[in-house]
Amino acid sequence: MINMNKKESKEKTFYITTPIYYVNDVPHIGHAYTTIAADVLARYKKLSGYDVIFSTGTDEHGQKIAQSAEKANLTPQQLTDNVVLKFEKLWPLLNIEYDEFVRTTQERHIRVVQKLFEKLYQQGDIYKGEYEGWYCVPCETFWTETQLTDNTCPTCGRKIEKIKEEGYFFKMSKYEEQLLSFIEKNPKCIQPKVRKNEIVSFIKSGLKDQSITRTKKSLQWGIDVPFDSNHVIYVWYDALINYLTAVGYNSDEEKFKKYWPADIHLVGKDIIRFHTIIWFTMLMAAGIEPPRMVFAHGWWTIEGEKMSKSKGNVVDPYKMVEEFGADVFRYFLMREVSFGQDGNFSKDLLIKRNNYDLANDLGNLVSRTMAMISQYFDKKIPYTTNEIEKYDYELMELANNTIKTYNKKINDLSINVALETVWQFIRRTNKYIDQTKPWILGKDESKKDRLSNILYNLSESIRLITILIYPFMPVKAKEIWGQLGIKTDLEKVSFQKNMIWGQLKPETLVKPGKVIFPRIEKKEKIEEKSKVKDKPQKERVSYEDFQKLDLRIAKVISAEEVKGTDRLLKLNLKIGEEERTIVAGIKEHYSAEEIIGKKIVVVYNLQPVKLRGIESNGMLLAAADNEKVVLLTIDKDISEGSIIR
Ligand code: ME8
Ligand code: MG
Repeated sequence: MINMNKKESKEKTFYITTPIYYVNDVPHIGHAYTTIAADVLARYKKLSGYDVIFSTGTDEHGQKIAQSAEKANLTPQQLTDNVVLKFEKLWPLLNIEYDEFVRTTQERHIRVVQKLFEKLYQQGDIYKGEYEGWYCVPCETFWTETQLTDNTCPTCGRKIEKIKEEGYFFKMSKYEEQLLSFIEKNPKCIQPKVRKNEIVSFIKSGLKDQSITRTKKSLQWGIDVPFDSNHVIYVWYDALINYLTAVGYNSDEEKFKKYWPADIHLVGKDIIRFHTIIWFTMLMAAGIEPPRMVFAHGWWTIEGEKMSKSKGNVVDPYKMVEEFGADVFRYFLMREVSFGQDGNFSKDLLIKRNNYDLANDLGNLVSRTMAMISQYFDKKIPYTTNEIEKYDYELMELANNTIKTYNKKINDLSINVALETVWQFIRRTNKYIDQTKPWILGKDESKKDRLSNILYNLSESIRLITILIYPFMPVKAKEIWGQLGIKTDLEKVSFQKNMIWGQLKPETLVKPGKVIFPRIEKKEKIEEKSKVKDKPQKERVSYEDFQKLDLRIAKVISAEEVKGTDRLLKLNLKIGEEERTIVAGIKEHYSAEEIIGKKIVVVYNLQPVKLRGIESNGMLLAAADNEKVVLLTIDKDISEGSIIR
């Protein structure tokens, strides 16, 4: 839970951070993931009435960056000035809106780092000594002999160098007991729980003093030790302090008091130790309260493999935005894995999420509703009467429960569960259309009140859904908001005041527009299909030949996915008095839920075939172009079993 009794002040403030990323290399999916998650939480908190600071930035000192610069034949400053742009330009493309961006080369940051170093030195918590041990450059980590099994880094497995040099140490060992008791009193300060347990047992194995400088002989690219210009400060000691810089430590005391301690440091599980052990003890030594929570999310692999340059499988967020759009990418990352667990990225999975959850479930709900409001109510959100029927009541009740669960889950950082909850509601709302059948009521003037209530309930559900998805897909949400015709700014909506059923104003003019979530066809599928298209026309057949086909109308009474297949749905059909099963390769285009209730065209006298062990007795008709497959249905209602002539 995010702690609500914030700071000393009475104001509701919320301070969330991402790691500051190394600029030795360009941003990838991992950086995007953490920053998107932080953006989601920041937007959610803003709508919940909090005064939010969302801070990110770049980690620009250290040996790793110095080496990269050398390789690129640049000065470290030139390299960081180039690469920082790749981060700064990426975030707006991903619809990320941060409030603070700390570069560790900024003057304001250098001042804070030196100030704290000096303070700890003055009070005797930093002392001079000699370091003899190991250092991993890619991880920028000091390792002691006892932590190694061979001469490779325990974290990344790479070769590691031995160093022996004079340096400064931070008396971390002194704070061991205090750290343990802090964690014990604030069990939520390290999340998820498995991470907390890891950290606690690590601390219990004994804390050593931490080396926090390098000599200028071995490294120049860093912040100078304020009183000893032969040494630069260790990059992690420097980097962690960015969280203080961002909220004005030692420069804007009012701001600092208002936002500190940070509510959430969001990090990957790779850097949890730095963020809890080193960081918490540094703060304790300085007399500054540790953050309320450090949350470590899981690790993305790519198509089941570790992401690495040498494998050439690094996912470039710029390309993702270009190919799928920022919000679809955001949705996928937030929805696909439990927040805290590892995840696997593949374009196929992303396309599936887009086609099922976004295009089918949400996109169709919006477009169906818009179409009916246009057709039956001249594009105006209809009025409601007080007659509430069972299905309406169920829908409203689910709306209320969805909002409650969503709030709880987001505050618990079960981000994916929050989304899942919203999608259950979206699917339920689609089902409400199938249950209430507005298109039938539309034919009967005496049913106008009922129709009006149903369409109001649908648009009101969409209004609530739009607010709920806004933190995740801010741009798409605004598009839906625009189609609903609501004039107020979506960003100014309040979770407390506006998440109440019935606020959508009748008479609002809706503005149906473009398809919000277009389907994505897989590349190889398009190629396959264009081959089909290039085939020569079939030869002409006689009328007698055509007459051999028995085509009939069938109603889909139930549908389910055929397990272990990508394409197949098993459909139970009613054709006149008869019930039949067919298996159809349309799962990528229609969900089981969506197809139930539809009246379709089938070839009634086709020889049965067995598909995946299921006898398919007949075949449905569908039209296909390079992009879509759509079912043949009927223009007006007619009884199932009707013969097509
Ligand atoms: O560690 N899956 O910077 P960094 C998920 N500068 N998240 C990933 C990821 C993956 N495969 N790869 C990277 C640093 N991340 C230090 C931080 S903070 C004071 C200093 C994300 O550029 C994740 O958030 O190596 C991870 O913690 C971070 O990027 C590491 O970024
Ligand atoms: Mg890293």
